[in-house]
Amino acid sequence: MTALLKTPAVWPRILLPETPAADPTDLDSAVRAGAFEALKTAVRAMTPGQVATAVAGSGLRGRGGAGFPTGAKWRAAAAAPGAVKYVVANGYGADPAVQTDRTLLELAPYAVIEGLALAAYAIGASEAYIALRAEATEAIRRLEAAVAAAEEAGFLGPDVLDSGWDLTVIVRPVQGAYLLGEETVLLKAIEGKRGQPEQRPPHPAERGLFGRPTVVDNVQTLASVPWIVRHGAAAYAAIGSKASPGTILIQLRGPSGAGIAEVPLGTRLRDLIRLVDGRRGGKADPAPLKAVLVGGPSGGFLPADLLDTAYDFETLRAVDAHIGSGSIVIADDRACIVDLARLLTRFCADQACGKTIPCRIGTRRLSEVIDRIAIGTPKPTDALLIADLSSDIVGSGLCDHERLATLPVTSAMRYFRAELDDHLLRSTCPAGVCQPIAVAAAAGSHRGA
Ligand SMILES: Cc1cc2nc3c(=O)[nH]c(=O)nc-3n(C[C@H](O)[C@H](O)[C@H](O)COP(=O)(O)O)c2cc1C
Ligand code: SF4
Repeated sequence: MTALLKTPAVWPRILLPETPAADPTDLDSAVRAGAFEALKTAVRAMTPGQVATAVAGSGLRGRGGAGFPTGAKWRAAAAAPGAVKYVVANGYGADPAVQTDRTLLELAPYAVIEGLALAAYAIGASEAYIALRAEATEAIRRLEAAVAAAEEAGFLGPDVLDSGWDLTVIVRPVQGAYLLGEETVLLKAIEGKRGQPEQRPPHPAERGLFGRPTVVDNVQTLASVPWIVRHGAAAYAAIGSKASPGTILIQLRGPSGAGIAEVPLGTRLRDLIRLVDGRRGGKADPAPLKAVLVGGPSGGFLPADLLDTAYDFETLRAVDAHIGSGSIVIADDRACIVDLARLLTRFCADQACGKTIPCRIGTRRLSEVIDRIAIGTPKPTDALLIADLSSDIVGSGLCDHERLATLPVTSAMRYFRAELDDHLLRSTCPAGVCQPIAVAAAAGSHRGA
């Protein structure tokens, strides 16, 4: 399991326990720590509508990347016609380098299960799924044990807490590529089918799993809900930033360390990277920070002078990055942004399913252009071509992958234009990474020419 990072004592803990339990599947100790208190309150003293109202009032937004308001989604599913509805916890974790959701499932299985039950109660569902990677064997083992124990204790199963409402929770391992994390593809996989992203509307809240109204929520989103019901919407709304309340799990990686941390949304990037890189002050560093890649393989590169940017949905979008998988990678001046953008763009192009042509062809062309820039065979019009291709691709897709896939290159163009021009116009790689491009003599390369 990826290491958990120490965070400032004043940062609230909602998702991960302060001290991980010796056995997170032990129901008695989880109940002593407050597990299922919120579910008891909900089924005994709240209507389903009141639960959805509490979630809406808290301002909780989906942690799966897009930040959609969770309460609005629940209300849409509750209002959709039909007696059979479903809830799906998305624990797939599409970014292969990020373990945040898996860590949550391993360390706090009851928080996810209780959040799932609260969502099911709020929309009137009697069947719910937790979908995760088939290779996450320890998380699967713990979830299955936790679901069985919760059923045995009457928190799940027939007649939940003597309420007359039944809830079956199914742990569903799934196997596939990056796009399987996208909700409509995930629903097909749960149905046992191979899928590609679907046109929306209708959204899954109206027509989802087996054609029924379905709430698909990320596992962190769901694990936030018991806290909201126990402490109140206002208390949750007071954490994080106004437009993006609450906490989120991030995974940091840099030359000085790596790990996972629960952080309040709205925290400055500067304070987040300090969690792995306390000495990072700028001048005295042997290898000064060059960029942070925020959002995973389809993330954006931000320069050191944007480290005061708040880590929240709107602010990141405005600077050509996004929360995405919760990944933050710190690159020092030994890294070449063109080379990194090239690797990421190729990955994104490889993951495009091909259902929409501008995404399939456009991301491939983008990858070819950045490839030839990196190897020293650019065409004079390549910068223009990147801009044209990106604007043609964005908005043309069915699932947003096409927009996100352009971010590595467009953010590199926006913030690292001089480095791009070194490759493009002078066939030099200041960091000495790109081959067979010559290394700029004055660049003080760390890798040699
Ligand atoms: C290419 C792609 C990959 C995605 N991968 C994930 C993922 O691994 N986990 C996840 O929760 N959401 C992922 N999403 C977002 C889901 O489609 C969906 O919006 C999310 O699960 C809804 O839950 P939320 O409202 O709690 O965020 C992905 C979206 C796209 C376009
Ligand atoms: S936008 Fe790309 S990944 Fe999404 S459906 Fe279209 S081709 Fe597939």
